[in-house]
Amino acid sequence: MGGDGLQFDSGVSQQVEAVYTAPDVVEQRRIVRVALALRPGDRVLDVGVGPGLLAAEMAPEVGPSGRICGIDVSDSMLAIARTRADVPDGPRIELEVGSATSIPHPAESFDVVVSTQVFEYVDDVLGGLDEVRRVLRPAGRVVLLDTDWDSVVWRSSDDARMGRVLTAFEQHLADPHLPRRLGDVLAKAGFTLTHLQVVPMLNSGYDTHTLSAGLIDIIAAFVPGRAGVTEEEARAWAGDLRALGSSYFFSLNRYLFVASAL
Ligand SMILES: C[S@@+](CC[C@H](N)C(=O)[O-])C[C@H]1O[C@@H](n2cnc3c(N)ncnc32)[C@H](O)[C@@H]1O
Repeated sequence: MGGDGLQFDSGVSQQVEAVYTAPDVVEQRRIVRVALALRPGDRVLDVGVGPGLLAAEMAPEVGPSGRICGIDVSDSMLAIARTRADVPDGPRIELEVGSATSIPHPAESFDVVVSTQVFEYVDDVLGGLDEVRRVLRPAGRVVLLDTDWDSVVWRSSDDARMGRVLTAFEQHLADPHLPRRLGDVLAKAGFTLTHLQVVPMLNSGYDTHTLSAGLIDIIAAFVPGRAGVTEEEARAWAGDLRALGSSYFFSLNRYLFVASAL
């Protein structure tokens, strides 16, 4: 994670968990799980497991004979994920501190590695994918999902201010435009791309229990002092969006990559 980027401390981790229970993010995970196509007995590593929502959903799919491991650099996220470690009809989820660029597991330990909205935080993406390849069995597969922040369409009554806020928020990631180069990095790490799709997020009409409404507080807290955005401006930006009511509009693309370690 970039040193000056978003810190997943206790407060931010709880905010992220709340946002990720919103129906549009639940649907995003369903799409990821379709791409994962897990089978009973599969051994899966979730890199940057976060609050453990995806791990808990995968556990019944691999069943008691499977294995679900999660690593994360954030103790706060792991503490939240631990509350989900016991899943009916699945293995107990194994959680530990670890980074994408130094995965604390032996070579060829997993059939599948998944990592959603994590590599965009990683400075050394190739180093991380080399690690993913090391821990995958031959012909194992990796499933990655990342955002390109150039794809955002967010209605505002002040487009210049929206532009400044989004420019400042790009600093929360090591690479806010990772998807456009991720195919090349996967190839360099020795993976063969087998599937690529866009996962659009769309919020029309202001609703507190959506991805973008949940992001407003996280963004408003992060941007002051960056790219010339002041606290007052961030507050005004957030208030403006909430006041749009039924005219509120937000759209953003995630990109889903499935690749094989052939
Ligand atoms: C936006 S959250 C996504 C969490 C989870 N993958 C999900 O989709 O619900 C990003 C997560 O990546 C973790 N993270 C950031 N850099 C990491 C790294 N180098 N290695 C492992 N995890 C990392 C953060 O601590 C955080 O939990």
